[in-house]
Amino acid sequence: MEKLLTHLGAVTAVIGAQWGDEGKGKLIDLLTPHFDVLARANGGANAGHTVVVAGKKHIFHLLPAGSLHEGKTIVLGSGMVIHPPTLLEEIRLLREAGIDVLPRLLISHAAHIVSEEHKERDAALESQRAGGGIGTTKRGIGPAYMDKAARSGMRMETLLGKDLPLSPCITKQIVPFLDESRKNGRRILIEGAQGTLLDIDHGTYPYVTSSSTTSAGALQGLGLPPQALTSCIGVVKAYCTRVGGGPFATEAKGEVGDHLRERGGEYGATTGRPRRCGWLSIPDLQFASSVNGFTHLNLTKLDVLDTEDTIPVFFEEGFRDLPGWKAETKGITTFEKLPKEAQNYVKTIENEVGIPVSFIGTGPGREEMIRK
Ligand code: IMP
Repeated sequence: MEKLLTHLGAVTAVIGAQWGDEGKGKLIDLLTPHFDVLARANGGANAGHTVVVAGKKHIFHLLPAGSLHEGKTIVLGSGMVIHPPTLLEEIRLLREAGIDVLPRLLISHAAHIVSEEHKERDAALESQRAGGGIGTTKRGIGPAYMDKAARSGMRMETLLGKDLPLSPCITKQIVPFLDESRKNGRRILIEGAQGTLLDIDHGTYPYVTSSSTTSAGALQGLGLPPQALTSCIGVVKAYCTRVGGGPFATEAKGEVGDHLRERGGEYGATTGRPRRCGWLSIPDLQFASSVNGFTHLNLTKLDVLDTEDTIPVFFEEGFRDLPGWKAETKGITTFEKLPKEAQNYVKTIENEVGIPVSFIGTGPGREEMIRK
């Protein structure tokens, strides 16, 4: 781990390589002890990061997934859209669990507020869209960003000085704070929300979210310069899922998809919706790697594939069936202990993308992870 941390450097971004829900929360939770500042840069309560600690599930929508760790400074960046009641509820639930984040929470004055009207408009716009719509999370995200781009939005700074538990956390000093942090050798972990293929510019438009979900978007959303980023970990599910509408060329329909959904527990953390399931697409992964500049990959939920005879993977020229391993990998923590076929699956991804798979998830628990 020490060697890996040296490679990661001072500023690391964890970015979804697919359509979100890759399992970023678990990696973030694992890395957090080694960082000082935890930052969210984009999106809002459309995100849902699940962290399982001691068998208890914690779901974060606005706060970074590492917030369970005491003593870390939490930053909600300018690129975010925040629904204050949701944030207050998240803070309250953590306090109930004995964790007080308020003294270490910094919220950018420039983050935009999501209002009830935004949520209503989100639902109304969805109902007007043809063909089932985008399938938004109905958290008001699109309309909040619409107002921001129209320069008629309301920013968190309007809550400064108000009698709310979060208003002392709102600050105009995020940029100098992050700058100082870097100068003082404090390590910053940036938590991407959603995934590359949902990016407003680079994703499967118009079936995308309304923010920039890439590493560049994360830097922009925080006010960090591009050269600040020392590493970028792409999080990739061992298969693929998508919630909502839009193209999904490797989707597995019918029983095959249902089987993946049940084994992987593929239901939305935010909306509870069943996720569409399918297979890994190497060209999509190569694209995500090019856009984000991945330096490492985290392959998640490998154990979900334990029962497959063969595993279809999409390459440039079409599907190829890779041999399955038909053995339990759940909870394995060393690469050498994986069945040969599972090792080959990982190596194929490494070779095709040209990026090392440094983390492999083998179960939902904190400890169920191979570090390579
Ligand atoms: P919105 O972000 O609520 O506007 O939704 C736009 C699209 O992004 C929909 O297809 C959503 O299902 C999807 N989406 C938004 N947030 C997430 C996420 O955190 N994980 C997975 N999909 C998401």
